[in-house]
Amino acid sequence: MDEVTFKSNTVLSDVHLYTPNHRHLMVRLNSVGQPVFLSQFKLLWSRDSWTDSGTEDSGLRDVPPQEAPPAGSASPRSPPGSGHSHEGLSPQAWADTTSQEAPLDEDGDLDVVRRPRAASDLDPAEPPRDKVHPMILAQEEDDLTGDQAQESCPDSIIKIEHTMATPLEDVGKQVWRGALLLADYILFQRDLFQGRTVLELGAGTGLVSIVAATVARTVYCTDVGTDLLAMCQRNVALNSHLATAGGGVVKVKELDWLKDDLCTDPNVPFSWSEEDIADLYDHTTVLFAAEVFYDDDLTDALFNTLSRLVRRLKNACTAILSVERRFNFTLRHLDVTCEAYDHFRASLNALEKLADSRLRFMVEPVEASFPQLLIYERIRQLELWKIIAEPT
Ligand SMILES: C[S@@+](CC[C@H](N)C(=O)[O-])C[C@H]1O[C@@H](n2cnc3c(N)ncnc32)[C@H](O)[C@@H]1O
Repeated sequence: MDEVTFKSNTVLSDVHLYTPNHRHLMVRLNSVGQPVFLSQFKLLWSRDSWTDSGTEDSGLRDVPPQEAPPAGSASPRSPPGSGHSHEGLSPQAWADTTSQEAPLDEDGDLDVVRRPRAASDLDPAEPPRDKVHPMILAQEEDDLTGDQAQESCPDSIIKIEHTMATPLEDVGKQVWRGALLLADYILFQRDLFQGRTVLELGAGTGLVSIVAATVARTVYCTDVGTDLLAMCQRNVALNSHLATAGGGVVKVKELDWLKDDLCTDPNVPFSWSEEDIADLYDHTTVLFAAEVFYDDDLTDALFNTLSRLVRRLKNACTAILSVERRFNFTLRHLDVTCEAYDHFRASLNALEKLADSRLRFMVEPVEASFPQLLIYERIRQLELWKIIAEPT
């Protein structure tokens, strides 16, 4: 197999950077030859808690988020959110989180897996080592569905296939931190989404939609690109038992922010049926979008789509958006700026001023102080925003 190379235009999500090695396994190559990995995201919560009637009864408390361990460090000895109440965690979830120890050698030192030496290193200080390549651990299998998925996937685990270090046009094939923040919010506020019809824009691997389907009735999980949507569909199948337990269904569909209309051509994969479109417009009351504000033109396209869609919906609706404020040094400014985030905030402001005789938009930040049920680094720069669209 060719060596895995990191090109200058590739990006790697922190979610995959910080996932300990044994949690992501390379399982196959996708149809365009990219290595696909399987990661497990543990829900620090038991199925019993899912059936609780509401946030007040869940035993969850409004506590500060967990401090993430530094990259490469052992997993926390104390439970995530340690020092806080962990009511709501099943004994199983508790045992699993505390048993994720880093590998140790016979003296008890950390056993660090080293990167293979670069071919360009002409003067190595140590004798050359064997090169290590990712290995395919299992060949592509048919989609796991129903009972099969249930057997291989306990209630507390979400299995997600994804790629790593993709070019910008393929970022949807990775899981981003904002998706985990939004998933946490959905689980914490599950009463708000119980039995709803939900639309996710730019769903990528589908993690948010999969979590939403544990409470919502129908989730339209949308993005663009047959490759990506196929991967997303596979993830939905891998986790189908989580959705069906709550009666939820996830429908993976194409929705391109650069197009005005939904594709209804039955020959196009992931196109819409007339029934789905009618259901979408008649029943949707919640929209989600995680980490989709990284390119100003796409941000404009997404806000246009959002404002067009809510005008077609029969009911008032709420959109919950997650965004990470990323700082970059730019030659243009000769300074550190967060242009993509600034453009997002300007778009929110513009939306609020868009009120017409039919509809008005209210925008408010959501305090990200709810507990973490998924393990990731909830950094200060991660934000949630709520847009309420209602008739004037
Ligand atoms: C950074 S990824 C976020 C993926 C996922 N929400 C997450 O947080 O893990 C941005 C997503 O926006 C999607 N996207 C980009 N342009 C789009 C367009 N024109 N229409 C629909 N989705 C688009 C990408 O395909 C990708 O899935």
